[in-house]
Amino acid sequence: MKTQTTSIDYIRKDFPILNRCVYDDKQLIYLDNASTTQKPIQVINAINNFYRNYNSNIHRSVYSIANEATAAYENTRSKIAKFLNIRNAKEIIFVRGTTEAINLVAYSWGRNNIAKDDVIVTTEYEHHSNIVPWQLLVKEKQAKLKYIEINENGELRLDQLDDYLEYGNVKLVTFSQMSNVLGTITDSTKIISKCKKYNVKTLIDGAQSAPHMKVNIDDIGCDFFACSAHKMLGPTGVGILWAPKNVMEHMVPFHGGGDMIKEVHKYETTWNDLPYKFEAGTPNIADVIGFSTAIDYINDIGIDTIRNHEEDLRNYALSKLDNIKNIVIYGNKDSAKSGGIISFNFADIHPHDLATILDEDGIAIRSGHHCAQVLMEKLDVPATSRISFYIYNTKNEIDKLVISLEKAARLFKL
Ligand code: ALA
Repeated sequence: MKTQTTSIDYIRKDFPILNRCVYDDKQLIYLDNASTTQKPIQVINAINNFYRNYNSNIHRSVYSIANEATAAYENTRSKIAKFLNIRNAKEIIFVRGTTEAINLVAYSWGRNNIAKDDVIVTTEYEHHSNIVPWQLLVKEKQAKLKYIEINENGELRLDQLDDYLEYGNVKLVTFSQMSNVLGTITDSTKIISKCKKYNVKTLIDGAQSAPHMKVNIDDIGCDFFACSAHKMLGPTGVGILWAPKNVMEHMVPFHGGGDMIKEVHKYETTWNDLPYKFEAGTPNIADVIGFSTAIDYINDIGIDTIRNHEEDLRNYALSKLDNIKNIVIYGNKDSAKSGGIISFNFADIHPHDLATILDEDGIAIRSGHHCAQVLMEKLDVPATSRISFYIYNTKNEIDKLVISLEKAARLFKL
């Protein structure tokens, strides 16, 4: 059992990729965890073990390896329920990731619950996956999409939500619990309590929050929650959607096919029970099983330890970046209000140029619009550079980042 005192060096040994060098001798420094996280050997082994020892389809066969596969797959559902404090594991649907989860809600719930002139409220700091599905829906239904703006600290202006709710017709408020660009942690409790007064449904995009801070769905009281395994040490291609049973029972299926049916006749079909009604076809069995091991790994370290470590790293990085002239940081400087994400621009160096220079030193950061062009418009920039941490990052890596940024300053004669 790893404890608070576990050294990060010990954790790093579990991540084979962190040993590698790029350009022959540059030790990889991976600072793009908001994009996807690295995988510990335990997760890699769990997937390998499935394919080597009990690869088979689930929910269909009576032989032993298929039973083992079904049990391992379903065990992940129970583990996620515990991790996110969801009372009923059968309310968890496996999907490809957060994007698919949100599209599922827009399709299966939205098409029956949004009508002409209804309003869907989202925010200026959403990822495209929490904007585009709603744009598609409102176009089809002649409904309206409205945005909660951000203030100069990168926080949501909740007074605008009050106005929207009072004005009426709001059917859904959808927001990320942590901005993938600014790191801002959304005051979900406040938003949801406001929405409940007006009987308005809420959807939380938990792609950035679930990996990095305690999420307690039972306490939060939202109506939909989505997150992705690959941002929490698990494999790509797996995520979850959670919604209460009574809501999902009234939603139409998203995909038709095997496993989501009870009976199929020539012209009529009846749906399987939850969660299978929303899991058509052979699912991503190996990666769902890998997700289970990722959750074990996070639990073993402790989600609060992860959060504290990242807060510490963010504070450290901000103090270092503050000493570099011409760096503009976007969002909140108070790391208690942000996840381990910092977006910035460095004078007029284009973020892609900066990322290329850092890459020469083995440092991987993301540059671009981060699938958040609405936010870029708000910030009035085409792109930013973004660093984002996880439990295996160190202050030493931040020191190396600073050296590399100073090199870029010299190159650009800043
Ligand atoms: N959503 C991912 C990011 O923010 C891809 O980089």
